[in-house]
Amino acid sequence: MTTTSDKVPVLTIDGPSGSGKGTISRAVAERLGWHFLDSGALYRAVGLAAGSADIAFDDVDALARCALDTEIHFQDRPGDDPLVFINGHDASDELRTESCGAAASAIAAIPAVRAALVEKQRQFRRAPGLVADGRDMGTVIFPDAAFKVFLTASAEIRAERRYKQLKEKGFEVTLATLLREIVARDARDAGRAVAPLRAASDAVHIDASGLGIGAVVERVLELIRHGS
Ligand code: DC
Repeated sequence: MTTTSDKVPVLTIDGPSGSGKGTISRAVAERLGWHFLDSGALYRAVGLAAGSADIAFDDVDALARCALDTEIHFQDRPGDDPLVFINGHDASDELRTESCGAAASAIAAIPAVRAALVEKQRQFRRAPGLVADGRDMGTVIFPDAAFKVFLTASAEIRAERRYKQLKEKGFEVTLATLLREIVARDARDAGRAVAPLRAASDAVHIDASGLGIGAVVERVLELIRHGS
């Protein structure tokens, strides 16, 4: 079925955690004046909501219901991550912790949870366009997207970036632990049976290891302006 929203252009940016996807997607969305979907925040929100409701992480039916029923609302903030409200409660800070990311990664491997979030994600496709950040945006959620990017950076560089971010926020972390966590999360996200982290066959690959955020943003904007 063709709906008007199918004609709204979508740019998908998929890749592993810590590749700079979030910052880059948000910056590109701002430059284009397009909407922005942080799909990881939806999985994180369901992980948090399930934790608050004491739902066991092996209770698949309850988790899927929780994914369907949890009200997740984003409030855009120019130059910063959007605020995220879960059932009306501002959970933005809690959502960014490592433990919340690990919980999200665990529940994201459950097919019924993923299925429950498909429509919620597609509803973000609104004029004039959408930048969708995640793991399966170009492969599963918006396979017809006009522009697809697969953004990577080495695990060491991603761990270093994360280390700096967390230190600045005053968290006590070690580089070795972060690197171990990143490698484990990559393996889980790429190894799961449903919608594993992988590049769409028509995605443009960008390795951000040696590039600053600004350079990657320009590269992505060039892709949109010139199609390559
Ligand atoms: O992008 P993030 O770190 O906020 O994502 C948290 C977890 O959610 C990630 O480890 C895997 C999962 N996720 C997913 O499975 N599919 C997506 N489209 C986005 C995130």
